[in-house]
Amino acid sequence: MPGDIIFQAITKRFPGVLANDSISLTIRAKTVHAIVGENGAGKSTLMNILCGLLRPDSGEILIDHQYKSFNSPRDAVKAGIGMVHQEFMLARDLTVLDNLILGYEPGSYGLIKREEARKKLQKLSTAYGLSVPLDCKIGEIPVSFQQQVEILKVLYRGAEIIIFDEPTAVLTPQETRGLFTAIRELIEQNKTVIFISHKLKEVIAIADRISILRNGRVSGELPVEEATEQKLAELMVGRKNFLQAVPPVIKEERAPLLEIVNLRVTDQAKIVRINDLSFSIQAGEILGVAGVAGNGQSELVAAIIGWGVIDSGRILLNRIDITTSSVRQRRLKGMRYIPQDRSMIGSCLSAAVWENLIMGYEFKAPLARRGLLNFTEINNFSKKLIGRFKIKVASQDMPVQNLSGGNLQKTVIARELAENSTVLLAEDPTRGVDIAAAEFIHSQILQEAGKGSAVLLISQDLDELLSLSNRIIVLYDGRIIGESIAGEMTKEAIGLLMGGRCNGKDGVDK
Ligand SMILES: Nc1ncnc2c1ncn2[C@@H]1O[C@H](COP(=O)(O)OP(=O)(O)OP(=O)(O)O)[C@@H](O)[C@H]1O
Ligand SMILES: [Mg+2]
Repeated sequence: MPGDIIFQAITKRFPGVLANDSISLTIRAKTVHAIVGENGAGKSTLMNILCGLLRPDSGEILIDHQYKSFNSPRDAVKAGIGMVHQEFMLARDLTVLDNLILGYEPGSYGLIKREEARKKLQKLSTAYGLSVPLDCKIGEIPVSFQQQVEILKVLYRGAEIIIFDEPTAVLTPQETRGLFTAIRELIEQNKTVIFISHKLKEVIAIADRISILRNGRVSGELPVEEATEQKLAELMVGRKNFLQAVPPVIKEERAPLLEIVNLRVTDQAKIVRINDLSFSIQAGEILGVAGVAGNGQSELVAAIIGWGVIDSGRILLNRIDITTSSVRQRRLKGMRYIPQDRSMIGSCLSAAVWENLIMGYEFKAPLARRGLLNFTEINNFSKKLIGRFKIKVASQDMPVQNLSGGNLQKTVIARELAENSTVLLAEDPTRGVDIAAAEFIHSQILQEAGKGSAVLLISQDLDELLSLSNRIIVLYDGRIIGESIAGEMTKEAIGLLMGGRCNGKDGVDK
């Protein structure tokens, strides 16, 4: 059974940043303790120290009144600490079972007792209401299941203290409810939970106590009974009021900029993913797409951006057929894309901040002339974007993998919005960013539409969809199951449609 966790004056410096500046914090055993703070405040750094991935420059950690010093994650695991990371750390080509036991295989003399592991894992998943398909490959299962695998992994390793770093950023509202049930079960079983999130509503719903970090320091701590969203926002970013975005008003009918005509996509297993889908978006319009992940959204985006294989149908950009155009040709015509996966698709993690910012612009003036890069122009370009999007970065030469999660997201968005777009595809654009940054990103998307771009916004966050979109379509099973103009659909109605219920009837015929 775990005791209290006490951080004593933890300090951690990276080149050019003081990520943790003498942080002292007590986390009571058997409670859910939330840590909030703006992007780059130092939350993940502190947790990486607790789970043995980083060593503090100074300061101590006590667990159950004993000083602990971890030289590796393995030491932290031994001390009962497990972390479900912001970016999952799973091997996509291995099965769930292999991922779960990797590095902690039971057995002796090199023989792995897989069946023993399987039994233990099945018992654990039943106990915590998790359901993971042990024999599927990680790459084949949805993110919410991948997260359950991460949770099961830490439980399998005997964790008593479980750290969740932005676990709900990738989940739908229903999946979040499932996670909260699992977290409550963890507390029932006398575990301690540390919960990091930018979604203040959720923090208030799940936490017992909340600590606020700001610029590497603790700027406040309060029991949940005293917390309101406004109070937390004020402690986090220094102001409590945020602008509510309003969808753009379109006065007259304009020409469609993006047209999807009778699109049909089947996957390798011959399953129909997109079924005769048609819609168009006119200049200045934001079309919101709601739907439970896996109902055709990713295939639709792949078809529009140009890397997906389609069976039939056409895609038109500004009335020109681009169905067979390459990704590059589409980008040259002003198509921009903010992907859901910022680390694998949205960026090149080992490349510098400036390199990530110029990708796609590097071959044309003013950044390049006659095939030669102009570093003065590049420097100006990159500095301007860092300033405009308030990306917190010690140096633009550092690889983006050293940025905090929200700052990596801002880097991807800054690049995609660096020039005017004709069509902007945005998937969960405010995933993992703090409330001030979310407000700013919303204003930028509205501005893009205001300048005449056609925006396709796919988001798990219904509040975001409702506050930005002129029109919303709900995807179910690769088809539009419901459509409405702004203000005419409630969250509840969208929720029902997302579950395949139309006019009160269960499901739709296939
Ligand atoms: N390995 C590293 N090398 C250099 N700088 C780093 C490294 N890891 C983190 N930093 C910097 O330390 C600061 C704190 O980052 P951290 O990831 O702890 O923030 P965070 O509070 O988790 O933010 P977010 O909400 O965006 O995830 C940031 O300025 C970040 O760029
Ligand atoms: Mg973080």
